Amino acid sequence: MSVKDAYKDMVYGLAPESDAEAVTWLDEHKRKFGHFVGGKWRAGRKQIETVNPVTGERLATFAEGSAADVNAAVSAARAAYPAWEAAGGHARAKYLYAIARSVQKHSRLFATLESMDNGKPIRESRDIDIPLVARHFYYHAGWATLRDEHYPDYESIGVVGQVIPWNFPLLMLAWKVAPALAVGNTVVLKPAENTSLTAILFAEICEQVGLPAGVVNVVLGAGETGALVAGHKDVDKVAFTGSTAVGRAIRQQIAGSGKKLSLELGGKSPYIVFEDADIDSAVEGLIDAIWFNQGQVCCAGSRLLVQESIAAKFYAKTRRRMSKLLVGGSMDKNTDIGAIVSRDQLNRIKSLVKKGVEEGGELWQPEAALPAKGAFYPPTLITGVEPSSTLSQEEIFGPVLVAMEFRTPAEAIALANNTRYGLAANVWSENINEALHIAAQLKAGTVWVNSANTFDASVGFGGVRESGFGREGGPEGLYEYLVPRSEKAASDTPFEQVRARASTPRTHSIDRTPKLYIGGKQARPDSGYSEDVMSAAGDVVAELPKGNRKDIRNAVEAARGASGWTSMTGHQRAQVLYYLAENLEYRREEFAALNSVLTGSTARQSDASVDLVLQRIFYYAALTDKYEGVVHAPDKNRLSIAMKEAHGVMGIVAPEESCLAGLFSVLLPPIALGNRVVLVPSHRFGLMAAQLYQVLETSDVPGGVVNIVTGPRAELIKTLAGHADVDAMWCFDSSDAAAEVESLAAANMKRTWVSYGKHRDWRSNEQGAGEVFLRHSVDIKNIWIPYGV
Ligand code: NAI
Repeated sequence: MSVKDAYKDMVYGLAPESDAEAVTWLDEHKRKFGHFVGGKWRAGRKQIETVNPVTGERLATFAEGSAADVNAAVSAARAAYPAWEAAGGHARAKYLYAIARSVQKHSRLFATLESMDNGKPIRESRDIDIPLVARHFYYHAGWATLRDEHYPDYESIGVVGQVIPWNFPLLMLAWKVAPALAVGNTVVLKPAENTSLTAILFAEICEQVGLPAGVVNVVLGAGETGALVAGHKDVDKVAFTGSTAVGRAIRQQIAGSGKKLSLELGGKSPYIVFEDADIDSAVEGLIDAIWFNQGQVCCAGSRLLVQESIAAKFYAKTRRRMSKLLVGGSMDKNTDIGAIVSRDQLNRIKSLVKKGVEEGGELWQPEAALPAKGAFYPPTLITGVEPSSTLSQEEIFGPVLVAMEFRTPAEAIALANNTRYGLAANVWSENINEALHIAAQLKAGTVWVNSANTFDASVGFGGVRESGFGREGGPEGLYEYLVPRSEKAASDTPFEQVRARASTPRTHSIDRTPKLYIGGKQARPDSGYSEDVMSAAGDVVAELPKGNRKDIRNAVEAARGASGWTSMTGHQRAQVLYYLAENLEYRREEFAALNSVLTGSTARQSDASVDLVLQRIFYYAALTDKYEGVVHAPDKNRLSIAMKEAHGVMGIVAPEESCLAGLFSVLLPPIALGNRVVLVPSHRFGLMAAQLYQVLETSDVPGGVVNIVTGPRAELIKTLAGHADVDAMWCFDSSDAAAEVESLAAANMKRTWVSYGKHRDWRSNEQGAGEVFLRHSVDIKNIWIPYGV
């Protein structure tokens, strides 16, 4: 065809990328691969096949990792750990830098292999996936150098087990491996069973750059192998990306084990278009949001919410643009939408769409024919869906967009947040004031304003709610691979013991019957029962109510209702906290006397305990307006504001020891940063919490911000941990309680921080206060804002 003819019909011809080098690489390995363990290749008996989803042809077979393979990999990682950690930041940085360089040197081989294995268009693997992989290793080479300076109170964790999905095989590897290695951990990685080729090539790169044996181990296999990695007793931390169902299973599998966990799970991210948006840009953004990588993207903008006044026009433009999308082979440089990763995934998409249409959704697909063979699905728009329908709620993970309309900004926010997920969101409006106002109210870890699906290693990524917890990338991502020294110093026995006394001092009048404290009011317990409170001398000194499930539910409801506290400025919250200190000071004798009664401390010791609490209140009051977010500048036309956001409603189980310091150290940081709290105080020292009611009342702490329920801890902990409206939970109790909290928390994926039966010295500033407590009180939301484009 002549150039003139081509101009006449304007039809795209093929522009194939050569697969020759990738084919040679596969053939050189006889298309059969084993595990990479301790720097050596290890054959396996059972084999899994991987196919090219575009052609359906077999690409290679892999060993399927057995328990013995996983054991060998974990042992290799364990053996390599001390030297890797001891090598120091500069040595680790040089390796990460060498890996980044090697990825760049072999970038085309990586890109073609990825596209052949996964079905994604070569344009995307070549221009997005692989450059971002290199970027992650460069970025984290920097953190290897800077770890000791920037995280002086932290250490590496040890052996990390990582399980990754098939949608961005090498990129997900980079997101996990780079930070883990940078800060001194060693790794056992299990790639997805249908896309392991680039992980194998990556292992070869590790060999080539001379990475010490055992620092990176790759065990191939499917879900069973993944479960063996996650559950291995010598793995200290698990990092997982994939479906919410599997993330939840892992959360339950390792509950109580003491392993650290980060989960990056599914999403159903809203794409909100206001009538004042630049519509053509919003349509183009939508193409990226939902049809990038065939919609197999955890943060895909898969729920279009468009303002009613522009809906018809917006749908028409979207359909027109969809008609131009080229569905085709992954190696054609013109392809916009490649193949779905597997037949199974294709069938899943088809059956979800069928269900959506049966539920009343109106389906639209462009007319262009799909390639004759291979796992293809056309770009699809489904309008007229209900907010509660299957398609509005379920992650489809394919090129399928569902659309709904809204009238007001408030309705847009309500619809956007009407999901169990919270990974990402997009807001389109030319009114930056409105766009940021909306962004702040969206329940999501990432919000793209007038943009979609942009990523950078310097900007953390991760979700809230059932989209998981933990962040990847950015300074915050490092914490997932570090452990505070204060946690390592925790002890099996309490630092402070009750001092037995011969008799209860008569300095304190205690014949009172406190109630519970819910919604700013003293409330009788639902059970109608009370239990004795003993002094250190063993005398009964009061009775405390036995709270139950119903009281916890009431307290959670009160906390949920007190959202005004979260939207207050730090300065306003600081004033309340200072006032609290003032009122406590005023009553210091009462508090000190009660402390002596309950703990057996001398008057002088109790006085010092009150002083410590006053210091802590001042400390957290000071931080309310200083523990702030940062602004990232990942490229010259984009900012990302990393905001620290309170979780919302937190369940707090105070430690059994350190009557005053224990109570205040866990209560203050969450409320200082805007959370509302349901507190289960120490059983032994519950009377001290009850003593607080009047101080809270007189200090302008709004009702519902602090709710206190005394009673049998096991029952109260269980109810709080299983409560669907509690966003995060801290539990300083036994290892059994930790296991129960972590397991029950899996239902709504609440964030947890548990002590596994270990004790802190609550009086010390290293263990009883500081940045760790603040960090566990917030999540980071990144709001991307383009400018000058
Ligand atoms: P999956 O969650 O089953 O697979 C992800 C990874 O987890 C793979 O490496 C797999 O071998 C491993 N795995 C599976 N079961 C495991 C277990 N019990 N313990 C440890 N590891 C285990 O995802 P799948 O089945 O491939 O896709 C199903 C759906 O999951 C998709 O349709 C999509 O909705 C969602 N998904 C979400 C992803 C995300 O990035 N958020 C990525 C992949 C899938």
